[in-house]
Amino acid sequence: MAIRRVDQVELKGKRVFVRVDFNVPLDEKKEITDDTRIISSLPTINFIYGAGGKVILASHLGRPKGKRDPKYSLAPVAERLSRLLDRGVSLAPDCVGEEVKGQIERMKEGEVLLLENLRFHPEEEENEESFSRALASLCDVYINDAFGAAHRAHASTEGMTRYIRTVAAGFLMMKEMESLEKALLNPQKPYVAILGGAKVSDKIGVIQNLLNKVDTLLIGGGMAYTFLKAKGFEVGKSLVEGDQIGLSLNLLEGAKGKMKFLLPSDHVAAERMDVQARREIVSNEKIPGDWVCLDIGPETIGVFSDEIKTARTLFWNGPMGVFEMEPFSGGTFAIARAVANSQAFSIVGGGDSVAAVNQAGVADKIGHISTGGGASLEFIEGKKLPGIEALRKNSGEIG
Ligand code: 3PG
Repeated sequence: MAIRRVDQVELKGKRVFVRVDFNVPLDEKKEITDDTRIISSLPTINFIYGAGGKVILASHLGRPKGKRDPKYSLAPVAERLSRLLDRGVSLAPDCVGEEVKGQIERMKEGEVLLLENLRFHPEEEENEESFSRALASLCDVYINDAFGAAHRAHASTEGMTRYIRTVAAGFLMMKEMESLEKALLNPQKPYVAILGGAKVSDKIGVIQNLLNKVDTLLIGGGMAYTFLKAKGFEVGKSLVEGDQIGLSLNLLEGAKGKMKFLLPSDHVAAERMDVQARREIVSNEKIPGDWVCLDIGPETIGVFSDEIKTARTLFWNGPMGVFEMEPFSGGTFAIARAVANSQAFSIVGGGDSVAAVNQAGVADKIGHISTGGGASLEFIEGKKLPGIEALRKNSGEIG
């Protein structure tokens, strides 16, 4: 069944529950350090209150493990959202219960209410039925705009959709699906994927899936060292997942003759992970035994950038090094610029890579910035995402 969109639904005077992904990074002072996810859902929110709906926003923030914890309150989000929307956004004391119900009863058309963190209740992640029903009882219409949480089968992303008559996707959810499908189903060739980040184990599924689809796979970041170790290089104290070496070798073997599978050839190595530490550019053969590699080197940047230049479709997830530390940020920022300058349709997903394109000032040159980290990887892997499947199943009128 086709997925219904928010603008295909009667919203006037209705209580509209919008599942958003406002799981944004916060610093020690609880200041939001990147509001991409909030900004990305504004078109849906604006549309609903413009159409006279009562907007009830619901999200998780972090992993509070089913307990109320002020550290994970959505209060900073309510404040930022009020500023962005230029209208008051109240924060409910909870996401279910009589008090919240009363607050919703008193809402007028066009008002916006943010429910408190869904994950303060363990039943959210357990996708528990009575909790799903309690959430469903708050609204007449359910909209899912939380692409970033679509790979989770939780009460607010999956369970509650069974108990609501009208279910639809928000504009962000639609845009994410359309852009990622473009890369997944019908990519223009050459299709180049760039994967980075710390662990191979997080990316096995996506690598396996991409082996049959991409023309070139570029691997950087911590995960590159497990592959280099598998190829027989000594990588010093660089990050290696010992239990993934065999699988990494299989992946390298599987790629032979089918596609280019490129690993870094040089690195920024340092005595230790510290901005003050001695550092040097070293080739694969010359990694000092007690040093750690923390970024790709200039030769690798050149080779990767040339591949990126030829691409017509690009998918990037994961940084090339420890880019939070200035001496080890060059590789990630160079890749961000290369992706931005290419003529390809480019998709960047995952919090760190999105932060990198924002910090490099090139976000406006990216074809699609995905608000999903794990969700975009699972989508590219070809997995069915429970949040999306629930929309597909319930897009008709039920009951
Ligand atoms: C994310 O940040 O990828 C989403 O908000 C999902 O969060 P989770 O991994 O804690 O479920």
